[in-house]
Amino acid sequence: MLCLGIETSCDETSLALVDDKGLVDQITFSQVDIHSVFGGVVPEMASREHLNRLSPLYQVLMRRSGAQKSDIRAVAVTRGPGLLGCLLMGLGFAKGLVLSLDIPLVGVNHLHAHLMVPGLEKDIPFPALGLLVSGGHTSIYLIKSPLEFVLLGRTLDDAAGEAFDKAAKTLNIPYPGGVLIDRFAGFSSPDEKLFPRPYLDNSNLDFSFSGLKTAMVYHVRDNQDLVLQDDLPVNHDLVPPEKLALVCASYNWSIAMTLKTKLKRALDRNPVKSIILAGGVAANTMLRRAIKDLAREYQIEAVIPDLSLCTDNAAMVAWYGRMLINQGLCHSLDLEAVPRGRPIPRDYLKLDSKHEHLCNCS
Ligand code: KG4
Ligand code: ZN
Repeated sequence: MLCLGIETSCDETSLALVDDKGLVDQITFSQVDIHSVFGGVVPEMASREHLNRLSPLYQVLMRRSGAQKSDIRAVAVTRGPGLLGCLLMGLGFAKGLVLSLDIPLVGVNHLHAHLMVPGLEKDIPFPALGLLVSGGHTSIYLIKSPLEFVLLGRTLDDAAGEAFDKAAKTLNIPYPGGVLIDRFAGFSSPDEKLFPRPYLDNSNLDFSFSGLKTAMVYHVRDNQDLVLQDDLPVNHDLVPPEKLALVCASYNWSIAMTLKTKLKRALDRNPVKSIILAGGVAANTMLRRAIKDLAREYQIEAVIPDLSLCTDNAAMVAWYGRMLINQGLCHSLDLEAVPRGRPIPRDYLKLDSKHEHLCNCS
């Protein structure tokens, strides 16, 4: 069964086709260069860009993959959380397609899709603990099965990705700063005393990164020479000054160790077979290493997606959507977008008799 996935929740316009074996093809247009001028995503511009890009990207994907429209048996679309205007662009396009092709539609929770995408590459042992770390979220889930997610902890303020991006802004490192902080960190070893590991002095599984961000602001206020000069070409070949590399390594270490400590606490309370690392920040070198170490310590599997599947992509939407359709679950054309901050309802419908052959359920 070929399932088309559509992702437009933030600043990537992405379309992908998956079949029973895995990813068939994917095409993504990243708006990062457009928004980097403004130091962050401008929602209105992002929505308009999705609108302009969706049809041409769909046509390229179909031509390049050799798939026929009649091969597509279902459409999966990110329905939230995300920027409302952006989500609506994806939903509108998805609804147009399912109307014209007379196939089922399923709305996908973007966060669950991030957590389940490693399943594209290998089987995930359940139950699992999932650490979702992105620009908008930092959450720990107990995942009993691909359909049962229990939220164990979440950030009370900034997300880990935001902590990276805001620190980068303070240092005049271009958006999205997480990638460059990660790269600069590779040029040094961390000073473990330079920044706090925030919000560990409690017994819960929540996070709070706003204090860490403030610690960076104060550190830079007292060390203005850390700030990158405007005329410096900050590209991926730049070797950072030694002092900046040390700050990046230390800040990155504080974030990675905070995440590891809370995850360890969650593992002590919830015996599981694997740890899944997901979301844009899952691309972070130090964090990937920390999670692998933790899994080794607990003798469980570390499920860490390929770098290409960490940031927003439609492969994860198509893959998780296909899983839902296989379970006989779908949505009607009334499917609504759910913006950031609002819970995503579990409002699936059952596939109708015309499409129930797509279901694997016994
Ligand atoms: O999941 P994602 O692509 O978008 C959403 O927020 O949904 O995550 C984007 C975030 C940004 O904050 C970006 O700075 C961060 O992921 N990020 C990284 C790395 N690559 C992306 N943070 C740290 N290290 C990285 N290598
Ligand atoms: Zn995301």
